[in-house]
Amino acid sequence: MRSLENLLRKNREWAAQKKKDDPEYFAKLQYHQNPEYLWIGCSDSRVDANDIVGLQPGELFVHRNIANVIVPSDLNCVSAIHYAVEQLKVKHIIVCGHYGCGGVKAALDDVELGLAENWLMHIREAHEAHFEEMEAIASYAEKFRRLCEVNVLEQVRNVGRMPVVRKAWKAKRDLTVHGWIYGIEDGLITDLHLKASGEAEATAMKKLDKARFRSRRD
Ligand code: CO
Repeated sequence: MRSLENLLRKNREWAAQKKKDDPEYFAKLQYHQNPEYLWIGCSDSRVDANDIVGLQPGELFVHRNIANVIVPSDLNCVSAIHYAVEQLKVKHIIVCGHYGCGGVKAALDDVELGLAENWLMHIREAHEAHFEEMEAIASYAEKFRRLCEVNVLEQVRNVGRMPVVRKAWKAKRDLTVHGWIYGIEDGLITDLHLKASGEAEATAMKKLDKARFRSRRD
């Protein structure tokens, strides 16, 4: 119990500090949120979305799950994207994976994880979609890193296939999907240059990424 009491105490300290810095802080946040970004990231406790990009409450709409997977049948994820695009009218959807992702590793190692296995199936699909390229990588460490990137690529493409996103693009709305990856070892985000502001870019993404990866290795 002591550790939970500790959390509540820390919360009171945090709220007091925020109010001290800006007496109107909570009053301003009370009635609306106005985020420009939807963040789709991993549930991993080391990847705190707001913290790593230096954003405050109200600035980032967040959806997190194991290994930042976007599945059309996942009502939770689809609703978050729908709400962010249609209601909050975000301008950017950022899919941010991370190196060293436990979910990606479990998919790569083919370990049994009970129910989570159904979820990891989607990463195995990403792996299969890039099978030749993955097989050509000899080092396990590099393969693992690459699958973390490939997973981001496939999830960015999945976002681009969402009806609500396609509808926004058809209406010429300013909406861009991005693929980033975070390094737990150095705290730095790498832009994977997986970017789509329309259907054509989303379609071309896989080819472009493959060419970029090849030139990076040569
Ligand atoms: Co992870």
